[in-house]
Amino acid sequence: MQHEALRIIHDEHHAITAMLSAMRGVAARLSRQPDPQDFDVMRAILLYIDEFPERLHHVKESEVLFPLVRAKAPEIAPMLDRLDAEHLRGETAVRGLEHDLLAWEQLGDSRRLRFMDSLERYSQFYVDHLRAEESEVLPAAVRVLDEAEWAQVLAAFQANRDPLTGEQPEAEYERLFRKIVNDAPSPIGLGARG
Ligand SMILES: [Fe+2]
Ligand SMILES: [Fe+2]
Repeated sequence: MQHEALRIIHDEHHAITAMLSAMRGVAARLSRQPDPQDFDVMRAILLYIDEFPERLHHVKESEVLFPLVRAKAPEIAPMLDRLDAEHLRGETAVRGLEHDLLAWEQLGDSRRLRFMDSLERYSQFYVDHLRAEESEVLPAAVRVLDEAEWAQVLAAFQANRDPLTGEQPEAEYERLFRKIVNDAPSPIGLGARG
């Protein structure tokens, strides 16, 4: 139980980290040459982040994993408070980035720096967030949670798909993820234009 739950959480963190790197790579390429196809890839990445980590991954953490850890490791409560607050802020932050991207695309180069600054702040914020979860919360969970609690965490993360959509959302996200991987610059993606 523990092993499988941790594997899913680590995998999702890796996917998010890959998206952050892809964003920076596409942003660098866009800075050199604004290209409609790259704006499209950047929009796909922001959609992925908005749809998957913001609405599913973080929600499972704040609603299932963190309360279980908090109950048995009160010393980590201040860190969990911080991470919960960051989960709440994340959705607004990604919407802000989407707006700044649209402004750059539609209004031109005068809005480029603003987007680049927002992106830099956002990815730093996210890297720090993931690092805190990996270095403090998951080790605390390993220390304090029992098998029954890991079973709850595993059930939550295995049911990580939105049941309201008509088709298998895993396949939906997989397609979006593939599109990004195919079009983003190396080393994250396979897009040759980088
Ligand atoms: Fe998180
Ligand atoms: Fe996380």
